[in-house]
Amino acid sequence: MTDLIQHRTNAPDAGGRAGLAALSTAAGRTGRRNMRWMPALILLLAFWALAPTDAVQADDFAGTEHDRHLAEILKGKRSQWRDLNVPYQDGEFLRNFVAGRSMRSVVEIGTSTGHSGLWIAWGLTKTGGRLVTFEIDRERHATARQNFTAARVSALIDARLESARTGVLALTGPIDMVFLDGDHGHYRHYVETLAPLLSDDGCFLTHNIERPFWDGQGYLAMVRGIPGFATEVVRPGEEAIAVTCRRPTS
Ligand SMILES: C[S@@+](CC[C@H](N)C(=O)[O-])C[C@H]1O[C@@H](n2cnc3c(N)ncnc32)[C@H](O)[C@@H]1O
Repeated sequence: MTDLIQHRTNAPDAGGRAGLAALSTAAGRTGRRNMRWMPALILLLAFWALAPTDAVQADDFAGTEHDRHLAEILKGKRSQWRDLNVPYQDGEFLRNFVAGRSMRSVVEIGTSTGHSGLWIAWGLTKTGGRLVTFEIDRERHATARQNFTAARVSALIDARLESARTGVLALTGPIDMVFLDGDHGHYRHYVETLAPLLSDDGCFLTHNIERPFWDGQGYLAMVRGIPGFATEVVRPGEEAIAVTCRRPTS
């Protein structure tokens, strides 16, 4: 999972460096005893040095008064979401993904009452980006707007009371991330419509990929077959999310 929320840096963190030092010492001792281990150790060291760090730390979301306000709201409402909302851990994952990958233009299919929207917006407070989110249920849309206002993120969110099926046709790119959490039967339509608008390292995140109430496996096979994209399945909590991103061209 950490691979998916990394900054675009390969510098080892402090722990990595300590690990490198410890491994170097071990390499010296081992080498004196038995040089056969050296190539393997050198390879391991190289891998360690190139391994990416986690992009975001808990501290990154605790520095401002607004961070504390959002944390308080989301913790307070943690057990109160009743409208098919994402679990708390998945919300955290979305926030970290947005902030860690510097996503600025995000689209969500299925606002409901705004739980995922709040987490995405929290990430966007760090990137200066915006979210367009679609919902067809009038009452849920109204509640989501209230939640966005209370969390002071309304300025970052264009919450549309409109079917995403037609709504996406009016979107323009570049879009950095699309969160699919609505009408599963139309995910292919969303991917086909929005893939051409995705930025160079843009991603589709698709929720509930392993739930039996839809053909998640068929969807996975479909996205895995799109040239130029790579798909991984992550499990921040109990739900699985497919993360389908454009492959770097170089
Ligand atoms: C799983 S819920 C979304 C939960 C939300 N992402 C959250 O975590 O708070 C799916 C929502 O998609 C909405 N929906 C279904 N079809 C839709 C469509 N064509 N366009 C927009 N919203 C749709 C449903 O009304 C429902 O509220």
